[in-house]
Amino acid sequence: MISTTLQTAIVEQLNKEFHSAYLYLGMSAYCSNEGFNGASSWFLIQYREEVAHGMKMFKYLEDQGADIQLPEIKGVKVKYKSLLDVFKKSLAHEQMMTKNLNNLSDIAMKEKDHATYNLLQWYVTEQVEEEATVSEIIDHITLVGDNGYGLYTIDKELAGRTFVDPTAV
Ligand code: FEO
Repeated sequence: MISTTLQTAIVEQLNKEFHSAYLYLGMSAYCSNEGFNGASSWFLIQYREEVAHGMKMFKYLEDQGADIQLPEIKGVKVKYKSLLDVFKKSLAHEQMMTKNLNNLSDIAMKEKDHATYNLLQWYVTEQVEEEATVSEIIDHITLVGDNGYGLYTIDKELAGRTFVDPTAV
C-alpha cells in the first residue's frame, strides 16, 4: 500500500508530466509559427510522450487504490527567441524533471516502497534518453548557427521522428 506522502508526491509529478505535455504543445506552436514544421512535429510527438508518461503514473495510482487528485495544470508560454532557445528551454525543463524524479525515488527508497521505487526507476531511465536526445539536437543547431540551409536541414531531420509509445515497451 502506497503511503499518503508518496501518493501526494506522485500526484504532483503526474501533474508535472501533463504540464510538460502542455509546454511541448506550446513549443510546437512556436515552431510552426516560425516555419519550422519539422521541429513543430517533433514537439508534438514529445507532447504525446509526456501524456503517456502521465498516464503511466495515473494507472499506477489507480492500481494502488490511491486517492487520485487532478490539480490545475499551469499555463505555458508560446514565445521563444529562436529554434536554439526553444530546445535549450526544453533541456532545462527535462533536467528539472530528472531532479524531481530523483527526489521522488529518494522518498520511495527511504520508505522501502519497492513497487513505487521500481516504477520511478522506469522514469529515471527514460530521462537519460530524453536529455541525451535534446542535447544532441542542441549541438546540431549550435553547429549550424544562423545558417538558413543548415537550419532547414535540421528541421527536415526533425520531421522524421515518429511516435512510439514509450510506456508500451
Ligand atoms: Fe516525462 Fe520529459 O519528462
